[in-house]
Amino acid sequence: MKAPPRLQSLIDEGLIDTVVRQLMSGKEAMVYVVRVGDETRCAKIYKEATQRSFRQAVDYTENRKVKNTRLQRAMAKGTRFGRQATEAAWQSAEVDALYRLAAAGVRVPVPYNFHDGVLLMELVTDEHGDAAPRLNDVVFTPADARMHHATLLVEVVRMLCAGVVHGDLSEFNILLGADGPVIIDLPQAVDAAGNNHAQRMLLRDVANLRAFFGRFAPELLHTEHGHEIWDLYERGVLNTEVALTGRFERKGGAVDVGSVMREIDDARAEENARRLRVL
Ligand SMILES: Nc1ncnc2c1ncn2[C@@H]1O[C@H](COP(=O)(O)OP(=O)(O)O)[C@@H](O)[C@H]1O
Ligand SMILES: [Mg+2]
Repeated sequence: MKAPPRLQSLIDEGLIDTVVRQLMSGKEAMVYVVRVGDETRCAKIYKEATQRSFRQAVDYTENRKVKNTRLQRAMAKGTRFGRQATEAAWQSAEVDALYRLAAAGVRVPVPYNFHDGVLLMELVTDEHGDAAPRLNDVVFTPADARMHHATLLVEVVRMLCAGVVHGDLSEFNILLGADGPVIIDLPQAVDAAGNNHAQRMLLRDVANLRAFFGRFAPELLHTEHGHEIWDLYERGVLNTEVALTGRFERKGGAVDVGSVMREIDDARAEENARRLRVL
């Protein structure tokens, strides 16, 4: 096919030879199958901020470390320069997370390059060499659902041990590759230690896995892996060898008013950010 304009500079730079076809146009990106030498890869082009849904921009940008305070002020004020910087930070966050997770042994696509707002990475394929389906497009037996659920919980633990919470993990952002599930779509990944929303995001990620695989293996719906994993993490005893039970005793006693108030403030901040985006 004729290369879309955003991929032309990668062709000029020799990073891509040809564009084979468009794979997807998702919420936040357009994804193409490309050829480089005799290899097939995948090119993810980020949409401009205004075209994105920007769910929970607040969660995701909190504590993104920006050393330069002038830049920080510009980003906070939302000047043109600031918006460009925010945009660049958002896009490079996915590349950073991919390198970090690949190094930690998490099953993510191998990142090759990031150029002009385009991420070049491994194309995840099924056993026929075709682009792999999303979990959402696959029907599982109860046994397979239990197996993949367990595998993915270990991946979640591996990510957390590497200091990362995915933040948008669901059946739409996991592909079923020839050798099992592969996790994709990480621009919103957050630093587990430095972000106040990390716990809530981890619990949501794990709850999404439970709800999806619970459709095929309903006994999973009674598990509490999210709380169990976060508790082990907070106590500093989480590792990938740990045997998860799926059970968690909630500590009784007084309600933590501070944390409830924080959640309310967060929800309000999210709503304000959303409204700003819509204007
Ligand atoms: N490395 C990859 N290999 C194969 N397919 C991919 C890959 N990355 C993305 N895709 C396909 O493109 C779709 C959109 O990519 P994703 O990273 O989830 O972006 P979005 O933010 O638009 O959801 C995915 O659902 C998947 O079908
Ligand atoms: Mg996605």
